[in-house]
Amino acid sequence: MCGIVGYIGSRNAESILINGLTKLEYRGYDSAGIAVYNDGNIQLKKAVGRLSQLEELLEQSPLSGSLAIGHTRWATHGKPSDSNSHPHMDEKGEFVVVHNGIIENFQEIKNELIEKGAEFASETDTEVIAYLLADMYDGDLVSTVQKAVARMEGAYALGIIYKHEPDKMIAVRLASPLIVGIGEKENFIASDIPALIEHTRDIYILNDGEMAVITSDNIQLTTTTGKPIQRDSFHVEWDVETAEKDGFEHFMLKEIYEQPKAYRDTLLNRIDHDVNKIDLSNEISLSQEQIRSIDKIHIVACGTAYHAGLVGKVALENLARIPVEVDVASEYRYRNPIHTPNTLVVVISQSGETADTLAAMKESQKNGVKVLAITNVKGSSVARDADEVLLTLAGPEIAVASTKAYTSQLIAIYLLGLYFAQIRETKNNQEITQYIQAIKELPAQAEKLLEFAPIIKEFSERYAHYEDLFFIGRSMDYAVSLEGSLKLKEISYIHSEAYPAGELKHGTLALITDGIPVIALATQEDIYDKMVSNIKEVKAREAYVLGITLDGNTDLFHSVDEVITIPRTLALLTPALAVIPLQLLAYYAALARGNDVDKPRNLAKSVTVE
Ligand code: F6R
Repeated sequence: MCGIVGYIGSRNAESILINGLTKLEYRGYDSAGIAVYNDGNIQLKKAVGRLSQLEELLEQSPLSGSLAIGHTRWATHGKPSDSNSHPHMDEKGEFVVVHNGIIENFQEIKNELIEKGAEFASETDTEVIAYLLADMYDGDLVSTVQKAVARMEGAYALGIIYKHEPDKMIAVRLASPLIVGIGEKENFIASDIPALIEHTRDIYILNDGEMAVITSDNIQLTTTTGKPIQRDSFHVEWDVETAEKDGFEHFMLKEIYEQPKAYRDTLLNRIDHDVNKIDLSNEISLSQEQIRSIDKIHIVACGTAYHAGLVGKVALENLARIPVEVDVASEYRYRNPIHTPNTLVVVISQSGETADTLAAMKESQKNGVKVLAITNVKGSSVARDADEVLLTLAGPEIAVASTKAYTSQLIAIYLLGLYFAQIRETKNNQEITQYIQAIKELPAQAEKLLEFAPIIKEFSERYAHYEDLFFIGRSMDYAVSLEGSLKLKEISYIHSEAYPAGELKHGTLALITDGIPVIALATQEDIYDKMVSNIKEVKAREAYVLGITLDGNTDLFHSVDEVITIPRTLALLTPALAVIPLQLLAYYAALARGNDVDKPRNLAKSVTVE
């Protein structure tokens, strides 16, 4: 949802900004632009399309200067075009702004400024901010920004520079992520850590309602009403290579292959091997009494994280015997859910910045409910504001299509379910030991499964020319089907639907005709026979069926056209393996169709707007 970056110091800013924007392109790639201050002037270069378009422009006419802000855009207000690209300026070209978020009352402010004679050059809400700053200027940039921000409603991470005060850059945050990088006689701002890590590992994370006044040798943090803030800096531990492609053609493929490591890292230090128990007591402060008294869990998330939540429902209900509801965050926040004093809300978010998930969390907290967050980003808004945090340790996920974050979320949910089961005594020691053994085997089993990638690639190439495809499954397999279908849609653009297999004959079977591809998951032993019957029903309508089942289920070979088998594990854990072939199917189908796998059309990695 747009990436912003800024630099103040003594080096030439252009290449620092372009490198930073390259690392942020996953946040949006409709257009890009930079503004550089030099010798009393601010010059702008913007280009619609990928960042490479802007780079071409800059190669022809470079910009030099050591104060600059830049932006890569995911369009909200106004179509992708040169004029709608950021940075935006006021009419005199003095105030320059980059923005991630949405100013909800921009039209009202715009109308007021138009009445005063302003003429706008774009359709964006961001341009209104630059005009508002010019209109409200009181002789001091900092106090002007404070006053302007007080008029703005919505969500924003802002980078601002002003022609007549070129010794500073301003960063402001409300509900959109923004960090300040601390350098040696130079400082930075960015939407996310990868943009800065080659320059600094020490950062300040801005909270909502905070701003930073940044010069080349000083960073002053205050609230947007001017109250000083003392904050420790945050040291980033992971290295640049973790956020690079490491020889893989795409981030998505690299991240699919990183799953065994992500499983191991997420399990690390959470299993007490001496007693065969899960120990989350260092991370989760809920007392045993509180855990015993939880009477329902609401899992709230978006997209892929929501799909992890659907698996989570089955896992938590079975392990800890607590009733679980799962909601899409954008629905939950407006549905006035019923909370009991002992409800636990579990939010799941890779980025920890998804606007709807954050809002759902805050709504729940307003009701006095405790929120436990499963997130991949330490220091993210969700991680900071939740009452309890269970981190997935998948490392940075760059590809827009989420893979290793999803499976690490599953691992975190299993750990949580087992931890609760121990305390609530809903599983005995022997059962817990069995689960722990099986979880420990998952990384090696995932590695084994990844060896079949070349075969899955062949399957995908056969499927790639279809325009419609169905996934079917029951129970956990249905939840995994939903994720497989989303992966396929988002990167290959093949229309696909996931159905609970038993539900097909209540309508959708009408769409199954000669040659329609159906991917059928049959990994749940207790309902295997039912699933085979459903497969026969689609086969009888001439569907072309790819079955996904457990090693050894050779009888399925007679009922389907092609089969992929996955290693055997406990039923509740199979999603962590079954999803891997589906991720690879989507990846190779997208590749076969010549799509930009890491940057699918219309999407962005973190959805920081509602
Ligand atoms: C799909 C995908 C999205 C995200 C969703 C939530 O591959 O990545 O559906 O899962 O936008 O994002 P987070 O987990 O960051 O809250």
